[in-house]
Amino acid sequence: MKKLTIAIDGYSSCGKSTLAKALAKELNYIFVDTGAMYRGVSLYAIENELILDGQIAENVLISRLPEIDLSFEFNEKEQRPELLLNGKNVEHKIRTLEVSQVVSQVAKISEVRSFLVDKQRKMGETGGVVMDGRDIGSVVFPNAELKLFVTAAPEIRADRRFKELQAKGEDVNLEDVAANLKERDELDTSRKESPLIQTDDAIVLDNSNLTPDGQLELVLKWVGRIQ
Ligand code: C5P
Repeated sequence: MKKLTIAIDGYSSCGKSTLAKALAKELNYIFVDTGAMYRGVSLYAIENELILDGQIAENVLISRLPEIDLSFEFNEKEQRPELLLNGKNVEHKIRTLEVSQVVSQVAKISEVRSFLVDKQRKMGETGGVVMDGRDIGSVVFPNAELKLFVTAAPEIRADRRFKELQAKGEDVNLEDVAANLKERDELDTSRKESPLIQTDDAIVLDNSNLTPDGQLELVLKWVGRIQ
């Protein structure tokens, strides 16, 4: 069977990674969570004090990009790839609200984007890949055989993300989580460089009323039609 490239884009916290991970497992494909990579660069900037009072020392960060090594290792117990930043597993650290609050500013920087897009293209060059993010169908793999644009009602997304952070023991409130999602969606859709867009050839998937299994079943049907 043909090894496809599947691009999954959409708003923050609408279950793109959950879908991409399940799909990759089912099809025996590679799963690449590109948001984790933007979060990894953001964590590097925070840990190296390149962000003060919300201001990014952009030129310094750009000059340090060659020092940032990002890779994934598979966690058998959790059944998911986890991000390594310069050899250290940072999966937990990159998911905090602190990182979420700066990541869309970091992702606006064009040099950061080309640095990561190059890596993403290499990771997916052999096909048999499910990649999720904001610019996968528009920029990273414009020729992907299947493109999905995932969305869900804002209050449902905020509630899902809030519960996820709470379950991880983060001290957060629903209003802050909802405000962060709104802000990231605005920044991601309005930025000059590779904004989040719905390409003409993408299938829209609104999963507000779908369970993760229901959503997977639906997408597997679409995959079956083009394979
Ligand atoms: O997917 P996730 O919500 O973890 O992504 C975090 C942020 O990284 C997004 O809000 C966006 O600013 C940025 N991002 C991006 N392009 C991608 C993936 C993520 O700009 N392909």
